[in-house]
Amino acid sequence: MANIIDGKRLAQQLTDTITKETANYCKRYPRPCLTIVSSGADPASQIYIRTKLRALEAAGMQSRVIQLSEQVCEAEIAAHIARLNRDDDVDGILVQLPLPSPLESTRILDLLDPKKDVDGFTAENLGRLLTGAPRFIPCTPHGIMYALHAYHIPVRGAHAVVVGRSAIVGKPLAALLTAADATVTLCHSNTRNLAAITRQADILIAAVGCPALITGDMMKEGATVIDVGINRVADPAAPHGKRLVGDVDFEAAAARAAWITPVPGGVGPLTVAMVLRNTLYAAQLRHGCTPAKNTASEAAGC
Ligand code: GUN
Repeated sequence: MANIIDGKRLAQQLTDTITKETANYCKRYPRPCLTIVSSGADPASQIYIRTKLRALEAAGMQSRVIQLSEQVCEAEIAAHIARLNRDDDVDGILVQLPLPSPLESTRILDLLDPKKDVDGFTAENLGRLLTGAPRFIPCTPHGIMYALHAYHIPVRGAHAVVVGRSAIVGKPLAALLTAADATVTLCHSNTRNLAAITRQADILIAAVGCPALITGDMMKEGATVIDVGINRVADPAAPHGKRLVGDVDFEAAAARAAWITPVPGGVGPLTVAMVLRNTLYAAQLRHGCTPAKNTASEAAGC
């Protein structure tokens, strides 16, 4: 039976540290401030935003939300971003994804001032990640690297198989794992014979948003399994008729893996902790008082 990677506990420890760092920082500077730009009313996004706002508040940071309609056009979002880029009271800006169609997230994200881009999604910040000089590491991949480090799961020389090539998780995570000396295979919807590849993984990461795509027979005995999926599925026995499941068939995987992240309570809380970490870092950057090193960035090998 697999050991559980307790993301909730790890995230709480990291949040406690960040909260202390924030209190120290606030002795000399204004409270770090993150503004979230939200477009439309995607229910999952609304939940994520509320979770981030609560965490920011609890850590002693300021938060604001700009709520735009489902019909918002690119020019309107661009105008908000331009204003936030100039606003001296705003340290970080986060454009909640997905954006309503037909808006193109890549074009819009690239309007952010890279020094306020706490998600690390601008071309400049993604480029810096690839060249080994990261500024903001995207929050979910950062949380995953942190968890691997905290649980002493060897990455150097390991075969890491990442299923899902999103700009939010798969691509930046592949870059971080490569920088940490793993051999990385990045799989996607056109990958042939996925199971033959996932079975080779020492570290298997599922980030596709497809309930139970990864079954027990798709992993080797003793693998580390990181489940990034957060899917709401119907369950008449659950309190609201729905429950959260990941991209991995948890029961079957737990019988084969050595380590596994649960859903909920695995990667999700770590992502939120990294939003805090990156917001504090954005504020420190703007005020020229960045710490030489911090635990989170060390874990990601930077
Ligand atoms: N939507 C789902 N995950 C994320 C994330 O990490 N950042 C942003 N901005 N939107 C998301």
